[in-house]
Parts: sequence; structure tokens; C-alpha cells
Amino acid sequence: MILNFAKENGWKVFFVESVCDDPGVVAANIMNVKVSSPDYMDCNRTDAMEDFLKRIECYKATYQPLEPDNYDKDLSFIKVINVGRRFLVNRVQDHIQSKIVYYLMNIHVHPRTIYLCRHGESEYNLQGQIGGDSGLSYRGKKFSTALRTFLEEQNLKDLKVWTSQLKRAIQTAEVLGGQYEQWKALNEIDAGVCEDMTYEEIKEQYPEEYELREQDKYYYRYPTGESYQDLVQRLEPVIMELERQGDVLVICHQAVMRCLLAYFLDKSADELPYLKCPLHTVLKLTPFAYGCKVESIFLNVEAVNTHRDRPEDIGKKVSNPLMRRNSVTPLASPEPNKKPRIEGLEDHVASSSSAIPVCLASDVSVAVPGQIVNELPRPSDAGVKLSAQQ
Ligand code: F6P
Repeated sequence: MILNFAKENGWKVFFVESVCDDPGVVAANIMNVKVSSPDYMDCNRTDAMEDFLKRIECYKATYQPLEPDNYDKDLSFIKVINVGRRFLVNRVQDHIQSKIVYYLMNIHVHPRTIYLCRHGESEYNLQGQIGGDSGLSYRGKKFSTALRTFLEEQNLKDLKVWTSQLKRAIQTAEVLGGQYEQWKALNEIDAGVCEDMTYEEIKEQYPEEYELREQDKYYYRYPTGESYQDLVQRLEPVIMELERQGDVLVICHQAVMRCLLAYFLDKSADELPYLKCPLHTVLKLTPFAYGCKVESIFLNVEAVNTHRDRPEDIGKKVSNPLMRRNSVTPLASPEPNKKPRIEGLEDHVASSSSAIPVCLASDVSVAVPGQIVNELPRPSDAGVKLSAQQ
């Protein structure tokens, strides 16, 4: 049925099957994952465990696993065995499918915490200038010290610290007194010809550019610079590596932090450029099955506010929107359509086995799972995507 439906629509099908037959892994997984699933919201852990074990017995009666050597040898799929201990990959047809495989092979379900913050307040922040490579202000330096104290209080054993390659982020990390890794990919959005300017100066010198960005902040690309969409693509390796790691602190920049946050909180492209990421505030993300807990911790060092709200008239239909000549942002598919998403790996483990088909139009971006704020159930549609269009 699935294959016919996909064929009628010109889609390719990629199956993801998660098989778990090690009783220890099954039990641990029910405890860590299933008891916090929406199915067991009003249930205690023992009852949830009992119920899920019964469910597994029912699944076993009818479940047909993928058969790589016989019946299913021509299908494209990945079998994830015992929560990533082994993988069996069959007939990967294209770049998107290989990215799905790569993603599934790199995610894990171990508890960990991701800390996101911006660098301390910079000299440019004080002047209202964007981009550039200025150093920290007096208060920015105070924030770095406060960050060090905060991390000491968190009592983390193997925290990794990542920064961009910009001075303000490096100066912030230096004060922490440990090792840190610099990522060029974490550098702030490149504002091209508008680098080093204030928003007022941009409005005055490049009124059309200013207006274009106001109209569509996510897709707008600065001349000779980047768009938020470009940034999301640039950050893909960082996100992938974050998925592989344990506890990490990422010291980055306003636009970059918005992109990372949008991934973990499953925010849409429309919301992303307006997410609030104030200076001197650490966002502590604790992913768990079906969600992500977010704590916002202000470290008590004053700083300027660099956030700009969405202009009020945006959202009202513009009959003749300004269009940039000579700069095309390629889209894999129109953004407003939410794509089919692959649910988190943990969503498909703990049962004796399960298989989900992933149907993809041949040129559609791949949606990747994210988690959402305040322990709400994870929606089934896509937010920020790891795009497959490079
Ligand atoms: O103002 C600080 C800053 O990090 C700039 O360097 C950067 O261009 C800007 O924020 C990104 O925020 P927005 O997309 O809201 O302009």
C-alpha cells in the first residue's frame, strides 16, 4: 500500500526499522523513553512498564520485520538494532537517504545537557553595530567571569566548550580557563556589505535592502553575505556533532544561537529569526524522549538589548513585494509546506521492533527531529531542517 501510494506520487520510499531484542536494552529503554511518552502521561512507571511489555507481546504476534536477504532485498531501508549497537543499511538510493542514514547513525539517547549562550557584550553591541570582530566590553568581561562561576556550580565532569572564531567569543571562552574548540561554522551571520553598520545606517544607505530583510528575514540574503537559511545550512555539521556529543557549552552569536535553538525546539523558519537570545543569558537544554526541557538563566550582568521584534505590518500580505534581482535563494520546496519528518530514534526503540516508511519526493528537503520547549509533546511536522540541497 505504502509503495503504491509513493509510486503514484512519484516519491521514493525509505524505511527505518528499529529492532530491539536485548531484554536489558528493552527494559532500560522503556524506563528512559516510553514512560515519558504521551501514551503514559497519567501512569506510574511500574504500570507503564507492565503495559509496554504486554504491548511488545502483541506486536510480536503480527509484526513482520524487513527481510534484507529475501522479500525486501530491493527496498531502501535502515535497520537500527538495539538502539544503535548495530545497523543494517540496504539500497541507499540518493544523497537524502544517505543523510538519513548518517543522521540515524550519529544520534544517541544518553542523557546530556547542551548549554547555549552568546559571547559577552561586545564593543560593537554597545554601539549598535552588527557583525565585525570587536572585543568584549567591560560588562562582557564580567559576564565571562560569571559564566565560569556558573559552570563550576553545574559540576560537570566532561564539558566540551565550543566557540566561533570571532574575538568576542574566544575572549569569553578564555576566561573559563579550560580547553575549547573553535568552529568557523559558528561565526555570526555574514552581513556582507552591511557589516559594521548600525541598523539605522543600513536603513539610510541601503533602504531597499533594509525593507527586503524586514519583509522576509529568514530568506533574505545580505548582498555578498548570508541569509538565515544559509546559516542553517552552514550549521549542519555543528548540529550533527552536537547530536553525537555529551555535555557541550556553545558560545556563539545571536543569529547562530537562534538557528541552534530552533533546531532543538523545533521552531519554524518563520519564527527562527525572531527567537529571543539575550546577551548574558545561558539557555540550558536537556533533551529527553518526546521533548526538550529549556531553562533560561540570566547571569546577573547587565547588557544592551540587541533583539529586534518582527515589524508589525509583516504578515499582512504585500501585494507587490520587493524582489531582489540577481540573487536567488534556491529552495528545495516551498517552505510553508511542512515536510514529512522522521521521528526521533527513541520513538521507535523499546518495542520488539518497528518499521516506519519515510516517503520523500525526490527533491524534497529532509526533515530532522527536534524537540520542543517545556516538555510539550513533539509535533509531527518539521521545523528547522537539515537541508539536503548542497
Ligand atoms: O547585533 C548583534 C548581532 O549578533 C549582529 O552581529 C548580527 O548581524 C545580528 O545580531 C543578527 O541579528 P538580526 O538577525 O536580528 O539582525
